[in-house]
Amino acid sequence: MAVRVLVTGAAGQIGYALVPMIARGAMLGPNQPVILHMLDIPPAAEALNGVKMELVDAAFPLLKGVVATTDVVEACSGVNIAIMVGGFPRKEGMERKDVMSKNVSIYKAQATALEQHAAPNCKVLVVANPANTNALILKEFAPSIPAKNITCLTRLDHNRALGQISERLNVHVGDVKNVIIWGNHSSTQYPDVNHATVTTKGGEKSVRELIADDKWLNGEFITTVQQRGAAIIKARKLSSALSAASSACDHIRDWVLGTPKGTWVSMGVYSDGSYDIPPGLIYSFPVTCEKGEWSIVQGLKIDEVSRAKMDATANELAEERSLAYSCLA
Ligand code: NAD
Ligand code: LMR
Repeated sequence: MAVRVLVTGAAGQIGYALVPMIARGAMLGPNQPVILHMLDIPPAAEALNGVKMELVDAAFPLLKGVVATTDVVEACSGVNIAIMVGGFPRKEGMERKDVMSKNVSIYKAQATALEQHAAPNCKVLVVANPANTNALILKEFAPSIPAKNITCLTRLDHNRALGQISERLNVHVGDVKNVIIWGNHSSTQYPDVNHATVTTKGGEKSVRELIADDKWLNGEFITTVQQRGAAIIKARKLSSALSAASSACDHIRDWVLGTPKGTWVSMGVYSDGSYDIPPGLIYSFPVTCEKGEWSIVQGLKIDEVSRAKMDATANELAEERSLAYSCLA
């Protein structure tokens, strides 16, 4: 049976990169038919229809239908997976929370439509910024959707961290695993390599053993990952799109189909108090997934430096939550 996948903001630049990936099976596998539901706002209706025309022209074997609409109820009806990209991106010189007032009200409004019209057990991924806080608002205004079904994208940051290690060591990115992004998809996020490993001819080696340069690992590596979104905006004059779309596919694929044995990924999920992160925030943790459910990896040793960075990004999320509520008031 075809899986119905909603993409909001589908006429935008991430949407344009994402929908062909979904239709080709990059998200749900090469044997899973899909029906795409694409939502945008009326000023983008003509462009949205153009994307629909291109999807028809691409003759994707797995694509069993396309709904392109500006009606949020029609868009959400019966969807099994909802990828929430709709909103406004930041421009050069802005922080992601600077788009809060524009975007957070969208997530309050769309929460209700999803709650009332999506398929039971719909899995939600929020991409639009500020991603963690938009996801939290969506969760709070859709109380009947289980908290475990609402997540936000930090897989892009996770993949960026893998990419930096792979470039530094001149190894293939597929051989690097188990970095962690803790916290907010913002410049306070903490990219943690303390548990990361590389598969080498001599077996599995820790990244800290292979890169003896602590100054780089504790400094430039972290800031490069934290600031990568801004660097892309500076270079492209537009925010990341192909890497965001690809990471969104990775996030849903691993959530639905499972993470490989011995590997974890980073997902923004509702905190249950693990690692003393306050419950009630959508915070990025290391997770493994099995049978469509994520679980936070438990028992990792946290040193003092990491603790401080994990708390700082949690504090920012608590501040963002207050700011979001003041924007909605
Ligand atoms: P874009 O401006 O190209 O596209 C966004 C689309 O959303 C537009 O077509 C717009 O009309 C539409 N839209 C606006 N309000 C809407 C609403 N109420 N309902 C449905 N659609 C609506 O932007 P983009 O580059 O595609 O980025 C989208 C969002 O994703 C931004 O907030 C950006 O900051 C964020 N982003 C997040 C990550 C991440 O890793 N979490 C990565 C990249 C971008
Ligand atoms: C990113 O990380 O590339 C996105 O969140 C876009 C941005 O504003 O940085």
